[in-house]
Amino acid sequence: MTTNYEVREHDVLIIGAGGAGLRAAIEALAQGASVGVVCKSLLGKAHTVMAEGGIAAAMANVDPADNWKVHFRDTMSGGKFLNNWRMAQLHALEAPDRVRELEQWGALFDRTENGAILQRAFGGHTFKRLCHVGDRTGLELIRTLQDRGVQQGVDCYMECTVTRLLVENGRFAGAFAYWRENGRFIVFKAKAVVIATGGIGKAWSVTSNSWEYTGDGMALAYEAGAELMDMEFVQFHPTGMVWPPGVQGILVTEAVRGEGGILRNKLGERFMEKYDPKRMELSTRDVVARSIYTEVREGRGTEHGGAYLDISHKPAEYVKKKLPSMYHQFKELADVDITKEPMEVGPTCHYMMGGIRVEAETGQSSMPGIFAAGECAAGLHGANRLGGNSLSDLLVFGRRAGMAAAALAKQTAYSSLDNAQMQNAERELLAPFSNKGESPYAIHRDLQTVMQSLVGIYRNAEDLERALNELQMFKARAAAATVEGSRMYNPGWHLVGELKSMLIIAEAVTKSAMARTESRGAHSRIDYPDLDKAWGQKHNIIVQENGEVVRRELPIPPMPDDLKEVLAAQQ
Ligand code: FUM
Repeated sequence: MTTNYEVREHDVLIIGAGGAGLRAAIEALAQGASVGVVCKSLLGKAHTVMAEGGIAAAMANVDPADNWKVHFRDTMSGGKFLNNWRMAQLHALEAPDRVRELEQWGALFDRTENGAILQRAFGGHTFKRLCHVGDRTGLELIRTLQDRGVQQGVDCYMECTVTRLLVENGRFAGAFAYWRENGRFIVFKAKAVVIATGGIGKAWSVTSNSWEYTGDGMALAYEAGAELMDMEFVQFHPTGMVWPPGVQGILVTEAVRGEGGILRNKLGERFMEKYDPKRMELSTRDVVARSIYTEVREGRGTEHGGAYLDISHKPAEYVKKKLPSMYHQFKELADVDITKEPMEVGPTCHYMMGGIRVEAETGQSSMPGIFAAGECAAGLHGANRLGGNSLSDLLVFGRRAGMAAAALAKQTAYSSLDNAQMQNAERELLAPFSNKGESPYAIHRDLQTVMQSLVGIYRNAEDLERALNELQMFKARAAAATVEGSRMYNPGWHLVGELKSMLIIAEAVTKSAMARTESRGAHSRIDYPDLDKAWGQKHNIIVQENGEVVRRELPIPPMPDDLKEVLAAQQ
């Protein structure tokens, strides 16, 4: 057992270096805190870049009638009114300022003829609201935040995985981690932590998420005693690549539909006329994903099990200018020229609406000293997120969490760290080298198969029950998982820890999905196809109790009259 760990001290520790983590870091630095950003991958290598089509903010540059009230209403209505209404209000109010600030920091948006930031249409948004940089908006956002953070002097610990949050006297005190390169342990002493680790797409087999997205931050918070909320709401983006098999799941941005792309089945029918004749291809993601899924299931899918998405009726130069990444992606990965032929697309696991329960104003979780922002935090999006609201979410609430964490750090002293907790963390990390079980890769593959087939777009009690039984068996297999070799460059060893996080979160998703006996937003129960008013008044909460994943319910606080009026006025 190690007796002297490498120790680093920061007022505020940020876990995750995507958009939310970087924005939180920039704000905490601006408040005078010393800040460490730790990430298991590389700085800025984040799912943020997969929000390709734009950032939603009611700037009214293209549609002058847009304003925060319409954005608020669209977000609430898209989320089937399960949203934290205060978060939805703050988000709609503050998003335009966050975009302007980003521009001041160097982000280069596409422009209108008058030189204002150009905005495009996206599903569920009443007006053209998405500020964009072609189809590379998330990348530009990350580039800008990275430059800003580095200029401001953020300390960065890359390729470093946090495996446990350390808690002293009922509050956050630090984090235990290891360097992925050499397996050495490192301990962070901090006064507050902002978790910004994104989602858990890698628990499903068809996903737009890259290898990092294994639910780590949600699992860390849960194990430290924080509550998770509304975990059943997993977003399947309607359009991922379906062919060739090696690229299945890679995102095809909603901007294709925003720029006029049309969905057809193999009979050439524009099937969205059936499912949402008013909004058609620009319906909300839950509706479009279910529609494609239904067309395929009923035998009207394409050769490779998807739908056709066609933008070839637009001039080739326009397509290449507006959708440069899509043009290259299809040309290089599928040998398809999207200016001439349709793409084949199908749903792909993309985003988690549920996550760590937080206070709207501060991002403070139910555990003192633990904050969360971005995809790993719950509330803003309710039962279904509108495209483009993730980038504005991470700027608005990343900033707020960074500010609140820095404020807390100012009034707090460092706690001493408990050796027993660190040694337990070390013991857990080393166990796979002496275990006699199986490879973690086999367990991961089986987990993905179960989540994809039993906890997917459509759910029912029988499938969910089967999934829960399978998850119990995976947990036993994962606890005995074994790895070969040493702690140097050992991806199998990294996966054992990630598997633990995925299994906790997968169980939270499945238990919550089982309990919610209705269909709402992204949660579709074949056996309960309707909205249930009673379920519209409460959240599912998940907590750890005696080592078990336990579900509770929490009533939604009543909405103030002024916001009710905003909703009513826009009906
Ligand atoms: O389709 C997209 O460009 C994704 C955007 C988002 O998830 O917000």
